[in-house]
Amino acid sequence: MHVALDSCLFPVCAAHGKSVVTVEGVGNTDTGLHAVQRRLLENHGLQCGFCTPGFVMSAFTLLRNHPAPSRRQVERSIEGNLCRCTGYRPIIEAFSSFSPEVCPMGSQCCRNRDRLEKTPSVDKKLIAENEDQVPIFPPELQVSDAYRSGQAVFGSGEITWYRPVSLRQLLQLRDTFPSALLVMGNTTTGFAIKKHEFDGPLIYGGDVTELKRCDVTDVGITVGGGCTMNELEEQLPVLEAKVKEEWKRRHINVFNEMLSRYAVQQIRNCATVGGSLCCGRNDSDISTLLHTLPTVVTIASLSGERTVPIQNMKLGKGEIITKVLIPHSEKREYSWYWKVAGRRSFSLAIVNGAASATIGTDNTVTRLRISFGGIAKGKVYSTDLTSFNKKKWNDDLLHGVLGRLTAALESVNGQQEDKYREAVASAFWFKFYAKVTTELQLSTANDYQSLLTPLYREGYHSRQTHEQPTSTDAVGRETRVKHGDVAVSGQAMYADDVPAEKGELSVALVLSTKARAKILNVDTSGALMMEGVRAYLDHRDLAAPGTHGTIIKDQPIFAIGEVLFWGQPIGAVVAETRELAVRAAAKVSVLYEDLEPILTIQEAIEKESYFGPPMEMVEGDVEAALAKSDVVFQGEYATGLQDHMYIEPHAAVARLREGGEMEVTVTGQSIRHDQEAIAELLGIPNHKTTVRVKRLGGGFGGKESISPAVSVITALAAKKTGKSARLVLPREVDMAFKGKRHPMLGVYKVGVSNDGILEAIDVKLYSNAGYAVDLSWPILENAVTSFESGYKVRALRVVGRACKTHTASNTAFRGFGHPQGVLVMEDIVTRAAAVTGLTPEVIRERNLYKDGDMAPCGTLMKNVTLPLLWRECKQGSHYEQRLKDVEDFNKQNRWKKRGIAMTATKYAVGFGLPTYNQGAALVNIYLDGTVLVEHGGIEMGQGLNTKCIQVASRTLGLPEEKIYTWESSTREIPNAIVTAGSMGFDLYGPAVKIACETLIERLKPVREAMPDDPWEKQVKAAFQQRVPMSATGYNRPPDKDHFSMAKKNGNKQDYFTYGAVCTEVEIDVLTGENQVVRTDIFVDLGSSVNPAVDIGQIEGAYVMGLGMVTSEDMRVNAEGQNMHCSPLLYKIPSVTSVPRSFNVTLVKNPYDIKTNIYSSKSVGEPPLILSMSVITAIKHAVGAARAQQGQEGYFRMDSPATVQRIAELCGEQIHTKK
Ligand SMILES: Cc1cc2nc3c(=O)[nH]c(=O)nc-3n(C[C@H](O)[C@H](O)[C@H](O)COP(=O)(O)OP(=O)(O)OC[C@H]3O[C@@H](n4cnc5c(N)ncnc54)[C@H](O)[C@@H]3O)c2cc1C
Ligand code: FES
Repeated sequence: MHVALDSCLFPVCAAHGKSVVTVEGVGNTDTGLHAVQRRLLENHGLQCGFCTPGFVMSAFTLLRNHPAPSRRQVERSIEGNLCRCTGYRPIIEAFSSFSPEVCPMGSQCCRNRDRLEKTPSVDKKLIAENEDQVPIFPPELQVSDAYRSGQAVFGSGEITWYRPVSLRQLLQLRDTFPSALLVMGNTTTGFAIKKHEFDGPLIYGGDVTELKRCDVTDVGITVGGGCTMNELEEQLPVLEAKVKEEWKRRHINVFNEMLSRYAVQQIRNCATVGGSLCCGRNDSDISTLLHTLPTVVTIASLSGERTVPIQNMKLGKGEIITKVLIPHSEKREYSWYWKVAGRRSFSLAIVNGAASATIGTDNTVTRLRISFGGIAKGKVYSTDLTSFNKKKWNDDLLHGVLGRLTAALESVNGQQEDKYREAVASAFWFKFYAKVTTELQLSTANDYQSLLTPLYREGYHSRQTHEQPTSTDAVGRETRVKHGDVAVSGQAMYADDVPAEKGELSVALVLSTKARAKILNVDTSGALMMEGVRAYLDHRDLAAPGTHGTIIKDQPIFAIGEVLFWGQPIGAVVAETRELAVRAAAKVSVLYEDLEPILTIQEAIEKESYFGPPMEMVEGDVEAALAKSDVVFQGEYATGLQDHMYIEPHAAVARLREGGEMEVTVTGQSIRHDQEAIAELLGIPNHKTTVRVKRLGGGFGGKESISPAVSVITALAAKKTGKSARLVLPREVDMAFKGKRHPMLGVYKVGVSNDGILEAIDVKLYSNAGYAVDLSWPILENAVTSFESGYKVRALRVVGRACKTHTASNTAFRGFGHPQGVLVMEDIVTRAAAVTGLTPEVIRERNLYKDGDMAPCGTLMKNVTLPLLWRECKQGSHYEQRLKDVEDFNKQNRWKKRGIAMTATKYAVGFGLPTYNQGAALVNIYLDGTVLVEHGGIEMGQGLNTKCIQVASRTLGLPEEKIYTWESSTREIPNAIVTAGSMGFDLYGPAVKIACETLIERLKPVREAMPDDPWEKQVKAAFQQRVPMSATGYNRPPDKDHFSMAKKNGNKQDYFTYGAVCTEVEIDVLTGENQVVRTDIFVDLGSSVNPAVDIGQIEGAYVMGLGMVTSEDMRVNAEGQNMHCSPLLYKIPSVTSVPRSFNVTLVKNPYDIKTNIYSSKSVGEPPLILSMSVITAIKHAVGAARAQQGQEGYFRMDSPATVQRIAELCGEQIHTKK
């Protein structure tokens, strides 16, 4: 039996007697890769690679248990792994290739063979498949029973871990240590253990086999309290097979349904029945279900056993749940289970519900039970429905129960924000009523079919289309990412993988727990008294001004006198271990004097709290255009926070070297900024400060300007203690202290002609900058200058204001302000459609940019491919036919709606600031003929190193295997420009090319003299002749003037990347759950340097945007605390979120375009804008739901369109219906 586990939750002591396989054991570059790793590589299933080992382990485990898995099993096995880069498509396909459902040839499928052959540049030796090396189960564990049968005790002096193996031993231990914590799956206790929130020893019950026993009798099934969800899932079919009568199996079926929605593989492999009933959650799936079925719980202690109905379950000292009895269903008993969550999988319920009804032959109710999770505080909520016994099962009953539920739920909640939960709970009852009515074959006029069919979930399909390269060299080929082989085997190095040095210390931050307050006193005595704590750091340890910042230095490394947002670092504790540092930091107490914070854009507007003057961009006479427009309307639209949630959190490792040299490994997108901040604030000259990055586990802008806040503190810890130091931010801290995507509010007045021409837009864009400027000005400038997206507006005025609030300083994020502006613009388009009676697509098509148009930023548009892309998209996606299909679907389905939308985008690529238009590279040729390429850019999954190697390969005429990149370091490349704005390859690709050209030029005489000799020999000869074989390349694009919005001169961008997309979605009208059915993307990337990398970027950006406009809901409460700083509370897309059909086409640009290198266009950010089609398609679907109730016309749906927002806007709240 193989199980995939979460290493951060599974206690190491619980591994006693088990064999642990890590990704390195599955395969590595020395012994060969496993098929799982190889398949991931072949399918380009990784970018930054940080998440990759997790995916490998999930798929490896699946294959060990199911060598020929179904597609569903494949998807299910990786639901618990999050990837922020890829958009999941290549990962799903890589692992689906093991499924005979995809191809009966399995691994011999020609698709796999062809893929390998098509990418000749890969070193086959490194990725050789080696099935023999799959780790065998250690013989000593196999033959000896000692590990399984003996009670084990582990102790560290502070904590003792007892591992009993029999129920008797367990109960004795419980009796001996009444305050000991019982640990089963550890998925709840793990959090308390990490924080040391327990007294006494730990007793682990996961190896007590009696607690895992399941059985079936005439009465029902008994399930062991120690059974994990996955063990249950395995056992239930066996038990079910023993129950002859179909009707008796209904409880088992509903149990299976619940399990299919319960957490993810890694959690299901640990979480137990008893743990779920005792964890104190009000939203436990199993608890809600078992409260509905007439479940009986067996409770045991040393003094004996007792049984109680689950509703009366209360455990005394030393007692444990040994089993639960779920009686068989009665002959005419029906039951059902539902769950609605913020994300379709890997999510705890917002509300879950279960119902059971026993109905007599005369269709009267004998017993009706319904329970809800997520409603009442700390417990499952059940309503007494006994008064409905003997009532007929008909629509009177439906409404009677609805009325009772509504009143009961209101009395439990009463809060406005709980209205959605109440509505969903009522909808659950309605669905159950519909199901039973259908099963009883009672006639009804209602459309129950669409109520009961699950949300769209067809098998997964995709297509990637691009031109085949005409050249024979590396450029234009689907080369795999260069760190792929080390990433799939877990050997890739990220900041926290830097080996610890002897005596290295750990750092933990002390964060503010107020949004705005004076600091009256900081008491560090409790922390400093702890053994092993070495130092406390605060602003007094830094050189003045103690702040950092890219544009102005207004971000204090540590708060100075006053805290300006919840989560601001006040100080830091340095200690011998990471865990001790965290515990000590919690002991630092801060005395505050509260000051009134400004938290929202609205409050900032009222108090005129802004950074800088307004920004204004005007094109045409807006007033005159408004006056002559056929229709004029006004409105507002708001967008929310989005967290970067890169999978690798911020980290730094600092080493103090001889004579005060400081070497710091960071997680920053700009080594220059880290170097300058460390040098300035620690008083070290730049030449003695080295900053290095090998690669980042994702950045997306979240590591652009913030990294110094981490690296300076780490370097300070090293300087103050004289020891190496390391700071790795826990996820919650990373999310709390760092800014996010700026929320924006657009307030607009629009004039449109009757035939849909966008005559005039006058809009004010307010962004929530947070407490400091950081990059808020250029981000706002981007939102202002790119506001109109792919649509020509005849007269446009956009005014931007950066609001100063007491929240984390919002920062760069993929798209850099562009998405927020476009969200407002797309809302305007939808509204213009509503007032003109046209479809939004007609409005978009009629206003698409074309050659000769003037963009508002003053650029004359040339070589515009938008009309071409639009046409291709319309035809390729079969938009018109599918629009009709969607309309038909909507007519036929009352409770499910579909929506389809096409949007277009132009994305300005380039830095408006002249200084930022430079890039440097260093290329060294060694005597064995190998080449090292270093550049100032940062590899973070976007394939920068891969593309730079392709450039070097073409320029030097060498195979890619001869070329290597090591890392980015301030020692090799001084004063490097930040890797941001999708500009990495545009700046550093040409620099590499220039350096290589210099070398080729120098080698020319030698090579011409010995043309038939191999490269290696030529290199050696050049060395003998004293030819320098190291060259720098400096890319200095032609001078351009600083862009001025007011004067409309200078160059805002180098070129535009264009795209068009068609997206179709399906929604559940009552719950707001949604699924992207199909997406067709068409992008003009000029001539792609690497189509595999570029398509990966497109898919990843689109899915990141999909999260932004749907499930990624992040809010700050009235006290200023961000309520969603944890992956459990913040829902980035998972594998089930992606479009079920996902097609990407790179359209060949028909023009002779001149871009920065090889006529290629930049891709990292532009496709994110295409995800606006998801929310516009959702609007279409919601519009259809509203129309069927007679609510025609525009409605405002701010972003993100969460399940709650969708359901509320559909307005089909079932408890209000008669
Ligand atoms: C990432 C994640 C996702 C999750 N997703 C879901 C989800 O989708 N649906 C859902 O319902 N829940 C979900 N959970 C919650 C999960 O069900 C609970 O954490 C639950 O506690 C799991 O049981 P366990 O065995 O791990 O409990 P443990 O953490 O081991 O124990 C929890 C508590 O129960 C006590 N306890 C355990 N067993 C017994 C027993 N037999 N008798 C008496 N006391 C006992 C322990 O002493 C402890 O106090 C999720 C949790 C995580 C971390
Ligand atoms: S490749 Fe998955 S997070 Fe980067």
